[in-house]
Amino acid sequence: MRKGPPSGVLVDQLDTPALLVDLDALERNIQKMTDFFAGRPAALRPHAKTHKCPQIALRQLRAGAIGITCAKVGEAEVMVEAGITDILIANQVTGEIKIDRLTELARRCDMMVAVDDAANVQALSQACRAKGATLRVLVEVDIGMGRCGIAPGSAAVELARAVSGAPNLQFLGLMGYEGHLVLVKDPDERERRVREAFGLLRDTANQLAAIGLPVEIVSGGGTGTYDVTSDCPPVTEVQAGSYVFMDSTYCGVRPEFEPSLTVLTTVVSRPVPERAVVDAGLKAMTKELGWPRPLEAEAASLRYLSEEHGVLDLSAPEAVSWRPGDRVRFLPSHCCTTVNLYDSLHVIQDGRLVEVWPIAARGRSQ
Ligand SMILES: Cc1ncc(COP(=O)(O)O)c(C=O)c1O
Repeated sequence: MRKGPPSGVLVDQLDTPALLVDLDALERNIQKMTDFFAGRPAALRPHAKTHKCPQIALRQLRAGAIGITCAKVGEAEVMVEAGITDILIANQVTGEIKIDRLTELARRCDMMVAVDDAANVQALSQACRAKGATLRVLVEVDIGMGRCGIAPGSAAVELARAVSGAPNLQFLGLMGYEGHLVLVKDPDERERRVREAFGLLRDTANQLAAIGLPVEIVSGGGTGTYDVTSDCPPVTEVQAGSYVFMDSTYCGVRPEFEPSLTVLTTVVSRPVPERAVVDAGLKAMTKELGWPRPLEAEAASLRYLSEEHGVLDLSAPEAVSWRPGDRVRFLPSHCCTTVNLYDSLHVIQDGRLVEVWPIAARGRSQ
């Protein structure tokens, strides 16, 4: 195995492509979100699918988060190995293999999972019974995103009843994710639509209370909506994730957080003055939300990414001095999927490497 770079080296001495996080900006983002939640009725349960890195999850918990959120059982397994004991998998876990892994985790720590299907509830209950495990359950309600989640109202109430009657499952409440609203640009429109969406959860929670099923937890929210969602009773937990790193997409919506994540690349070719090529393509930067943005180079923009090449147009070639071997940093357009391309995160402070953190849950999509 190749030895990693020694602590203290300058950023420009790192091999590329490399994923960098600015430690001070990361810590300011964590602190800012912590400060926001201090003294509010809702709490923060940050989504670890953004960083997939136990070192960051532990920092969020030390700062006051009440637990973490994961997207997948595989991510949760990594976080449990790191000593984290309170985890929501904000997704449905189906199929024998995964349910078996989930119940194993539930024997070791406080696991919580989302459900939207009665047969899945029975399968979870049976598996937990067989293993002597208890699993906490939230009924996921579709509040307008049109992804997972049962319809609000009577269908959700029926499912909650099924959960509360199922051995070894503990009905704790509801989850709704307003993913269709997190990037709404206009803050007033965003707020109005988020309040409307969580009104559906409130009505469902009221119906549950009326039949004697108390709702302890109501979970939802992302970086784009954390401030409004946390102020929509009966929301008790917010699952924001991207705020730790940010990206060019989210920076346009939530300027109060700083971009802390960048991709360091090297120019491999400048075949003509108007074009430069870097050593980071689709296997080093994602583009489903737009082109990653080269930093400190107004006149440069990505034209395309092939597997291992990033091809940049230089609109004012004379203003860009790049030669092969020079370094170029990019701001990703989607932090969560970019992180998943790397094994490790280079932690930078004042232009020098201070630590290398494994992205231990990278690729854990099962
Ligand atoms: C279920 C769920 N909760 C919360 C989030 C919030 O994440 P972010 O803060 O990145 O918007 C996501 C993002 O995909 C999600 O799928």
